[in-house]
Parts: sequence; structure tokens; C-alpha cells
Amino acid sequence: MSESREIILSQIKVQEAVERLRVGEVVAIPTETVYGLAALISSPKGIERIFSVKRRPFFDPLIVHVSDKQQARELTTSWTPICEVLANHFWPGSLTLVLPKRAEVSDLITSGLPTVGIRMPNHPVALELLKELGEPVAAPSANLFKKTSPTQVKHVLREFQNEDVSVIDGGDCKVGIESTVLAVNGSQLNVLRPGSVTGEQIKEALEKAGLSFGFMSLQKHENENGVQSPGQMEDHYMPKKPLIIWTQSWDKNSLKFMTDKLGENTKGVELKLLSDPLLAARNLYSQMHEHSMREDIGFIYCLWPESKNKDGVWTAIWDRLKKSSSYCL
Ligand code: TXA
Ligand code: MG
Repeated sequence: MSESREIILSQIKVQEAVERLRVGEVVAIPTETVYGLAALISSPKGIERIFSVKRRPFFDPLIVHVSDKQQARELTTSWTPICEVLANHFWPGSLTLVLPKRAEVSDLITSGLPTVGIRMPNHPVALELLKELGEPVAAPSANLFKKTSPTQVKHVLREFQNEDVSVIDGGDCKVGIESTVLAVNGSQLNVLRPGSVTGEQIKEALEKAGLSFGFMSLQKHENENGVQSPGQMEDHYMPKKPLIIWTQSWDKNSLKFMTDKLGENTKGVELKLLSDPLLAARNLYSQMHEHSMREDIGFIYCLWPESKNKDGVWTAIWDRLKKSSSYCL
């Protein structure tokens, strides 16, 4: 990174971030899942800038981040007992609730959908910022469209080195993958994006509270124009080097097979999954970022035998790996 570029993309403190956000600028902020690129929900200039900095198409809606339940209630026309129980149980935390939006919530944030995604992040810096602002921010992950989400401040600095974007350093993200996105349509629930908060945990919390609900399994969600909900796009989270998922048994010819597929003289490096799924999620993207930076490496590979567990948090890890991979062999 050249010196002048480093100056453009500066690290700032919460108070300076507040000032910038209030004049319609964007600021990259830490959350417990991944870093987000934030703008005030009341600032059309800031919201538009999120899309232009990320080179993100306008059909992909943004998640609104709140500091408390009251702010969430003010964004939706339907804050039900189900929402109350889920918020009490999982907030602050990595669960985004997709709820019917109030008219005041800008269509730019929701991509014209009648719903809005809302969550309360579990990160002291994000919460301090939101309390100082007294207003929610919209924040997608702080990466270029379809690229790997940042889990460390240096990932953000690298991604936007040509842009006038400031970042607050909040350390490494502890969850490491994006929030669970749950559509709540009356008593019908639908996981639109799996995350570290699992369907099982959601079910358990609602059952304990004695609420009745219907749980749809993970499925494609279409908006009124028949367009698929954006987080469900098949190619997403892509590292800069091709990622291969190896589902076959491993022997001495396996690596040679991959190397041949990608051309001679390419060297592969393994993305290793830790055995605890929470730890595997935590360092999944940081490995993708680190391996992508290596000049001696042509591709990344990850071993996922067909018999491997895909339950609980592994559902989300598998989802991210599949979407970021170029080949599944
Ligand atoms: O953990 C996270 O959720 C991170 C941090 C920064 O909070 N944010 C994040 O935002 O991952 P983003 O924009 O990269 O992904 C948000 C996804 C969208 O692609 C979309 O699929 C879904 O959330 N989403 C948001 N609003 C929605 C809505 N109204 N209806 C359906 N899906 C929605
Ligand atoms: Mg994203």
C-alpha cells in the first residue's frame, strides 16, 4: 500500500466516526460477525455511497443495525411476541430479523422490498457508536460486492485502499461469519442465510416461551418480481484465489489432480477447518484473506469429506465455503 493511500484510508475513533456519519459519509465499523460499512439510515447520500464504494447493485438490501429494541420497533409495522422473544434471547448478537418495514425506512436500504433486515450487533465499539449517534446505521459487510467479508481491520484497509473510507479498529471479529438472516412473516419463520445462531437454537427459544410458529427449512426466497433474495446468490464471498472444495477421499494423487486442473506450476494451500465449528467459523475468512495475499499460491483447497457433519453451525460454514468456491470436486 503506498503512503498516500494509507493516509486516505485512516483509522479513526468513535467520536470522529460520529461526526463523519452525521455529514453523510461512510465509516467501516467492527461488529462481532464481520466488519461493516456503515451510513446513517437518514442519510440518502451516505446510503448511496455504501453502494458505490462496494460496487454493489441496488437490488441487494442492507441490514439496519440498532442499539436497542426500541429502535428496532420503530423500523417495523409488526413487532410481535416472536420478535420480542428472539430479540431478548439473541440480541445483542448475530441474528438479523427480516420484518415488515415502516414507510419511513428508505427503499434504497431495502431495495424496494416491503421488509427490512434488523440486528443489534454484539460489539462494544459498534454499540458505543450507535448510542452516540442515537440513530441506527445501515451496514453491509465492508468488502467489494461478492468478495470475502473482512474479519480484521487490515482486510478492510486492503479492500478499500483506493477509496476515501475510514475504519474504527475493534480488533478481530469473534464470530467470523455473517449473521443468521431470519425472515419473520407472522408466525412463519424462514432462515434466508444460516449463521452462528442456528435454526435449532431459534426453535428452542420460541418453544421455551410457549409460542407457536411454523419453521420453514432453508429455501430460496423470492421477492415480488421473482428475483432471488440477494444473500442467496450462488457466487459470493469469493477469495482472490480460486477455492476448491475436495469432497473425495484424500490420497497422494489428490493434490496433483487439482494442480492439473488449474494448470501446471500452480501451488495449492490448504484452508484448514478447526474441529470446533465456532472456531472454524472464526478463522474461515481470515485464512481466505491470508492465502489470497500469498504470491506463491495459485489456489486454496479445503477438505470436506461427504460424510462430514453439516448440522448446527457447520450449515453456515458449508454455505459460505460452497458460495466462495470455484470448484467442488
Ligand atoms: O453479520 C452481518 O450480517 C454483517 C454485519 C456487518 O452486520 N452484515 C452483512 O450484510 O452481512 P450484507 O449486506 O453483506 O448481507 C446482508 C444480506 C443481504 O444480502 C440479504 O440477503 C439479506 O441480508 N437481507 C437484508 N435485508 C433483507 C430483506 N429485507 N429481505 C431479505 N433479505 C435481506
Ligand atoms: Mg456481504
